[in-house]
Amino acid sequence: MQTLRTVSEMQNVARELRSAGRTIAFVPTMGALHEGHLDLVRLAATKADVVVVSIFVNPTQFGPNEDFQRYPRDLEGDSAKCETAGAHYIFTPTKDELYPAGYSTFITEESVAKPLEGISRPVHFRGVTTIVAMLFNIVQPTCAIFGQKDAQQVAVIRKMVADLHLPVEIITCPTTRDHDGLALSSRNAYLTPTQRQAALAIPRTLQAIKAMAEKGERRVERLTAEATHLLADQRQIRVIYVALVDPQTMQPLRELEPGNALLAIAAWVDETRLIDNILL
Ligand code: PAF
Repeated sequence: MQTLRTVSEMQNVARELRSAGRTIAFVPTMGALHEGHLDLVRLAATKADVVVVSIFVNPTQFGPNEDFQRYPRDLEGDSAKCETAGAHYIFTPTKDELYPAGYSTFITEESVAKPLEGISRPVHFRGVTTIVAMLFNIVQPTCAIFGQKDAQQVAVIRKMVADLHLPVEIITCPTTRDHDGLALSSRNAYLTPTQRQAALAIPRTLQAIKAMAEKGERRVERLTAEATHLLADQRQIRVIYVALVDPQTMQPLRELEPGNALLAIAAWVDETRLIDNILL
């Protein structure tokens, strides 16, 4: 495995690979890699000849009071994990290389990005679409892998790729969960054992609502009210949103359509913001 630090190094490798007819599967990450990321890398290895993982904590997707500074960073540990999972290249550019002084170009998706995360994190998706488009342009992948845990992120990226006619296939990998059901996230590292216990109400709630839907409940208000009630049981949890939406557009559903509904939750567990979702 090789580590590439500059845009021109990455562009040269991408050019050589593409002209030799090799396909590239790309896994964009912000590092602090866990098994969920490694599942993305392992899936990538089945989809193309060469796997490129980017590790870059992207400043433009963090709001002014968010955790950019304290976001966990561990390049050495991440490199070892990527190699074991089957990556061929790591691309770890610096902030100054991707966003030099005077940088002023942004990409905004203006529909799928608006609800849910778009309301509570207004600059987030502008940063995500900008960096993902920039990385696609540098890495020149044939396909890119994203986790279902960030369901709205995948939907926004799919829409950007369609709207801009980018020649990249977007592949979604199912959410990886810990043995206790908590969705893996780099932010779980912030949780104390007590907070982690409280956080388990999130996957429990998703499962409980899935069971209600499977028993035939179709009323969106009943399902979301029950989810909010179950989460409110935990003193340490503050619900940001509970929503039943169309998985492609993220627009609220009037009635549950089995097979085409996403229950999305965002909540604070004390100071840690977690998201999770389930397809119903
Ligand atoms: O999901 C993430 O880790 C980030 O949003 C991404 C896609 C790497 C862009 O910075």
